Amino acid sequence: MQLTNQTILITGGTSGIGYELGQSLLAKNNKIILLGRNRQKLEQAAALGFETIVCDLGRIEEVEAAAVRIQNDFPDISVLFNNAGVQYNYLFTEEVVAPQKIHQEIQINISGQILLTQLLLPLLSTAEKAMVVNTTSGLGAFPKADGLVYSATKAAMRNFTVGLRYALRDTAVRVLEFIPPVTDTGMTSGRETKKMPVSQLISSILPQLEKERKIVTVPAMRMFLWIAFLFPGLANRILAGK
Ligand SMILES: NC(=O)c1ccc[n+]([C@@H]2O[C@H](COP(=O)([O-])OP(=O)(O)OC[C@H]3O[C@@H](n4cnc5c(N)ncnc54)[C@H](OP(=O)(O)O)[C@@H]3O)[C@@H](O)[C@H]2O)c1
Repeated sequence: MQLTNQTILITGGTSGIGYELGQSLLAKNNKIILLGRNRQKLEQAAALGFETIVCDLGRIEEVEAAAVRIQNDFPDISVLFNNAGVQYNYLFTEEVVAPQKIHQEIQINISGQILLTQLLLPLLSTAEKAMVVNTTSGLGAFPKADGLVYSATKAAMRNFTVGLRYALRDTAVRVLEFIPPVTDTGMTSGRETKKMPVSQLISSILPQLEKERKIVTVPAMRMFLWIAFLFPGLANRILAGK
């Protein structure tokens, strides 16, 4: 699918991977709708030519309102990037966290995006060609000890992606999974590990998106997925840095 002259919604579009993706796609003559909670960042983006929607994906009524706004103002939407995400790092077995924290991670990373997808599918299905791209994580293939809930949400989105792809196989809607490597964004700030610059990530994935690869990612992540599948113990040691 050519990513030009499309109407594209990006959740988690106010920063990091979503914002950089939005910038690149805006430069390719697409109409880009950024969805997020941060009003100030959305106002700045609007001044640069983006369309914007304020929405907390953790709140069902806000997701429903966002879908109505899209039906009214952007009925020609053809691409949905379910990219928003939060990651709370804590040792699940040692630290008791507020129930709200567990609930929020699940609401934002899974429920909100699944609901948005369902509400937008009727519109996407009217496009000549359409695409749903779900951002997951290598941690959805193999969990890390200090991010068990996050890992589980990404595993759920991987499973949802495969299921949705099969459910839509006889339609013009393609369903892709996007797996970023560790990337230099707000989510990974303070981490010592090697991080990919976000601009480098986006330029490497754009051709894959246009080729509609089922899994859009970088070569090292493809290798990790195989390791996690074939040698889970080794994947565990890689994530633990041993
Ligand atoms: N960075 C990495 O190394 C990495 C690796 C693998 C996967 N990922 C995934 O890549 C995606 C983008 O992450 P990033 O690294 O770009 O992180 P980021 O810079 O922290 O961006 C996260 C985005 O999610 C949005 N968001 C958070 N809570 C939200 C809510 N309740 N409702 C609506 N939007 C919400 C934020 O917007 P507001 O603050 O405006 O709400 C922000 O735009 C996430 O799904 C993440 O899990 C990242």
